[in-house]
Amino acid sequence: MDATEAIRLRRSVRQYTDRPVADADVEALCRLALLAPTGSMAQAWSLVVVRDPDIRRPLAEMVIRGGAEYFRRVRPPAPDVSDDEHAEWARGYAEQVLSSYRHVPVWIVGLMVPRGTFPDDWRSYERDADLMSVAFAMENLFVAARARGLATVPTVFHWFAESDFRALLNIPKEHEIPVITPLGYPAEWPTGLPPALAKIRRPWRTLVHDDHWGTPRA
Ligand SMILES: Cc1cc2nc3c(=O)[nH]c(=O)nc-3n(C[C@H](O)[C@H](O)[C@H](O)COP(=O)(O)O)c2cc1C
Repeated sequence: MDATEAIRLRRSVRQYTDRPVADADVEALCRLALLAPTGSMAQAWSLVVVRDPDIRRPLAEMVIRGGAEYFRRVRPPAPDVSDDEHAEWARGYAEQVLSSYRHVPVWIVGLMVPRGTFPDDWRSYERDADLMSVAFAMENLFVAARARGLATVPTVFHWFAESDFRALLNIPKEHEIPVITPLGYPAEWPTGLPPALAKIRRPWRTLVHDDHWGTPRA
């Protein structure tokens, strides 16, 4: 599969099988991730590959718990539903959509490792550059994984269980954890976005302007 096809066919996958992933694939994907552009060639990044079942299990529970917190806060409650009932719905929904995370064979954790090379008053530029670089690396990994028939999903649900997550992986407090992903074989490949998301995808022409802002191609 070439790069164009892998970009087109990549989808966020949330249902996985427990089929093992070969070490050679994991290693190749990490190496391709780390070929991404990196601001100032700083390489202010690291990847944690989690395979140990004793770490994967609690990690998955934290992601599912964080997902429930996300759904509780972001999805509007149904009419006439109490806060407790809404929280219960969010826990059930997270369970429904994320439970296969418990048997995903690999997780990849993308870290930003602060470098402290920019002047003090440019630290926020440095942080932005380094967070972007981690995101580029992870996108490399997502696309390369797709080309090998492996599935991923950029995930931030661990943000909502952050202190437990840090403690589990021994991540120092200065390191940021912008994005993680399960890595495994999908229960099935989504053929496109779910209808609700496909409906809100903006036509690309409305997002491309020629020469200056305010001239979309639409
Ligand atoms: C910055 C970022 C954070 C995301 N966080 C999550 C997440 O925590 N959990 C999740 O299931 N999907 C997450 N996604 C995936 C998006 O929901 C998904 O990319 C979007 O719906 C489009 O679907 P596609 O990736 O299949 O094209 C995230 C995507 C991005 C770019």
